[in-house]
Amino acid sequence: MGEDLADAARHWDARYAERDRVWSGDPNVMLVREMAGLPAGRALDLGCGEGADAVWLAGRGWRVTAVDVSEVALERAAARAVEAGVGGLVEWQRRDLGVSFPPGVFDLVSAHFLHSYAELPRERILRWGAAAVAPGGVLLVVGHAGPPPWEAEARPGVSLPTPGEVLAGLDLSPGGWEVEVCEEYERVQLGPDGRPGTRVDNVLRVRRLPG
Ligand SMILES: C[S@@+](CC[C@H](N)C(=O)[O-])C[C@H]1O[C@@H](n2cnc3c(N)ncnc32)[C@H](O)[C@@H]1O
Repeated sequence: MGEDLADAARHWDARYAERDRVWSGDPNVMLVREMAGLPAGRALDLGCGEGADAVWLAGRGWRVTAVDVSEVALERAAARAVEAGVGGLVEWQRRDLGVSFPPGVFDLVSAHFLHSYAELPRERILRWGAAAVAPGGVLLVVGHAGPPPWEAEARPGVSLPTPGEVLAGLDLSPGGWEVEVCEEYERVQLGPDGRPGTRVDNVLRVRRLPG
């Protein structure tokens, strides 16, 4: 295991090991909103965490490749897929996406909240994600546009770009893509003290034009 994988894996395995479950277990709202009407195909979930998005997609007939650097998260995610009866539709891959990327092309490449306190070349990973989108397919990037209300500013080294900055960072070939959604949205999140705060996130959906 290279140093990068070791650092990211150590960080995230420790984070996941703190609790039996870190995330809600529900699929991300923007995935549900943006993908609900689309026909099933091949999907790639970048930084899949505990697998709620991958399991939701598989439940709708998608064949999913789900990647994360954390072994703890992937074990949890795989168990969850089996419980949901979709274990055979998801391939779980442990990788540091900053170092290597899954082969293949996909009708959907999805990255939800791919942020990290460990080193993460997010822009490069998202460019690789765009390159893996099949003609006619979609890249969906959802992330935080700023720090949570209970933190005055972003922590050093954590990238929290606006949707426009995410789009610019993809460096998509002109004429090859249609920008379908590029916007900020607000949602309420509970802070460490249990009190709700409003957080600004962003969603970018771009489609590779066929042919
Ligand atoms: C904030 S969590 C989001 C998880 C999931 N997408 C969700 O929305 O619930 C970020 C995820 O990215 C993964 N991750 C961070 N750095 C990574 C890397 N270099 N390679 C692969 N996965 C990484 C973490 O292990 C974690 O599961």
